[in-house]
Amino acid sequence: MQQIFESIQHDIEQILDDLDQQGFAIINQIHPERFMTELLGECLSHLNQFREAAIQNGVVSKIRSDHILWVGEKMIIAKQHIDLLEKFSKLFNQTFFLGIQTVEAHFACYNSGEFYALHRDNPQKKNDRMISTVYYLHPEWQADWGGQLRLQDKNEQWHIIEPEPNRMVIFQSDLLHEVLSSKRQRLSITAWLRSGNSIWSSE
Ligand code: OGA
Ligand code: MN
Repeated sequence: MQQIFESIQHDIEQILDDLDQQGFAIINQIHPERFMTELLGECLSHLNQFREAAIQNGVVSKIRSDHILWVGEKMIIAKQHIDLLEKFSKLFNQTFFLGIQTVEAHFACYNSGEFYALHRDNPQKKNDRMISTVYYLHPEWQADWGGQLRLQDKNEQWHIIEPEPNRMVIFQSDLLHEVLSSKRQRLSITAWLRSGNSIWSSE
């Protein structure tokens, strides 16, 4: 993983600057192509275990229609992605004093017509999610397939971000955002860099 971190080293200053100035940053081609393919394979091999994200603790919400699977110990490829996020956590702690202690992640699959309406991952800072990250791992994405991430930055400017393969978006968890309806199967790993270990319910 050290290698992967080094391969994006030249962008680190830019990432920190974007996070500081706008509250979000985009990293393209973050992983080697081969790694993305392996991660996609791991994701697809578990697709039959994905569950409706709208149902949390038996409570049904209408704001999202995607399906998710929490990353577990046995998912050795996804674990390497989390290892990288732990390195980012250290960097963000050093730079922004966020006190991040843990990384928690799930795969997400949006099938045709699925979406996630406007929300914040950490509304009113009521949970301990500091930073949200989304990594896209479908092999291809075309501009007319929808599924964009629409995000309001910390200066209240809106951005439409295409879910390009092998792209990772990093943003403050208190920012407003949504996933527009997708026309194709859209695969990702969402991970939160959290400041504590408390048990929380995801949204
Ligand atoms: C989320 C989320 C954005 C995306 O999982 O909370 O907002 O682009 N995901 O998948
Ligand atoms: Mn979100």
